Amino acid sequence: MSRAQFATRLGVIATTVGSAVGLGNIWRFPYETGVHGGAAFLLLDLFFIFIIGVPVVCAEFIIGRHTGSNIRGAFRMLAPRQAWGWVSYIGITASVLILSFYSVVAGWTMHYTVKSVAGFSDNTSTEALHAQFDSFASGNILPMLWTLAFLAINYLILSRGVQKGIERMSNILMPILFAILLLFTVNSLMMPGAKEGLMFLFSPDFSAITPSVVLGAMGQAFFSLSLGLGCLITYSSYFKSDTPLLRTALITAGLDTFVAILAGMIIFPAVFTFGQQPEAGPKLVFEVLPSIFADMAGGVVWSTLFFLLLFLASLTSTISMAEITIAYLCEEFRMTRRGATALSIGVAMILGSLCALSFGVLGDMKVFGLTLFNLFDYTSSNILLPIGGMIISLFVGWKLDRSVVISELSAGGGRATKFATRIVIFCLRWLAPVCIAMVFIFGLNIF
Ligand code: TRP
Repeated sequence: MSRAQFATRLGVIATTVGSAVGLGNIWRFPYETGVHGGAAFLLLDLFFIFIIGVPVVCAEFIIGRHTGSNIRGAFRMLAPRQAWGWVSYIGITASVLILSFYSVVAGWTMHYTVKSVAGFSDNTSTEALHAQFDSFASGNILPMLWTLAFLAINYLILSRGVQKGIERMSNILMPILFAILLLFTVNSLMMPGAKEGLMFLFSPDFSAITPSVVLGAMGQAFFSLSLGLGCLITYSSYFKSDTPLLRTALITAGLDTFVAILAGMIIFPAVFTFGQQPEAGPKLVFEVLPSIFADMAGGVVWSTLFFLLLFLASLTSTISMAEITIAYLCEEFRMTRRGATALSIGVAMILGSLCALSFGVLGDMKVFGLTLFNLFDYTSSNILLPIGGMIISLFVGWKLDRSVVISELSAGGGRATKFATRIVIFCLRWLAPVCIAMVFIFGLNIF
């Protein structure tokens, strides 16, 4: 079977960044940073992104491009009949879990897009905006319908194939999103609470670092980079043979981090200006943003545009998540693309509905003290992704032929890549696995 390929190098960057940039940056990063006390969390996040994340991104790229296969097929090719292949099942499970709860939040962005056009209530006090979000999210039917609508849109795009749908859309939308975020950042920096907000985000209090903060930061780094479940293996299987892998990984991580920090610089000044709580959790962004827009000239236009773009950024991310399972089902079980898409999205629709309801009628259904939504988020981000990342990094560091690693990493690069290749290999063999293992042992309190 001949496989699709990304047409241009810009297409490669734009789609990979499109996968990375999404709710993880604009919704999850501010709320996790808020919950975990601010700047110290950001510093840890940066460490995990650049020191652990970038090498593991390279590892996924190496596997994907070398095999040009879906996640299961890739491991079968490289390590036939060996236990390494189990990592693909971790990846597929995690991607379905993430797709499910992620779609709930993407549904919220759709609701807020429509609401922006229709207008928020005339009372734009902080309390009124909070009440508005709470009554929407706990309303059962409406959030569930939005979740289903979001997944249905995913189905329509994904069943049309890789290149046409994903690439064209990302190329146009990502630059617009960057521009509008920059504009909002300037707006937030002029608020009275700007100083306090920036202190919260950038001035670390190291005494706030606990094992669970470290675990949370590692989970956030993996989540935001779309790392650890083979999403990037699948995407890089569509790369060309001369795409420079390390450079692509660095650009992706750089832009991804940039967007997250901008989101922080938009949200936290507003949090302190409007007297909100940084540790509000998943609803943080949805309560703070409307306050910002209510205060802006032309707020209706800005808020519509913003939620619309956020919805589209989520879409480029969920497309990449679903693509893992779809490529797997198509290539391993010879399903049609349409059938594979229907099956993956169908499962996500069931689980996603349950997650949506966990803010309402299913709110009391708790597993390990967490609602379904939080359980899916916590287990996939903080546990499954890092485990997947650790296995992938051990695999490329120790098991995969060194010559494959070197030739993949040096493709399309100059002399400087030789030195960089050594560093990446060292990180994959030692640094990443040891760090991830240690964070687990302390963060999950294993002993
Ligand atoms: N990185 C995306 C975001 O920040 C979410 C995402 C897309 C993802 N694909 C993934 C997370 C694969 C984990 C694994 O919104």
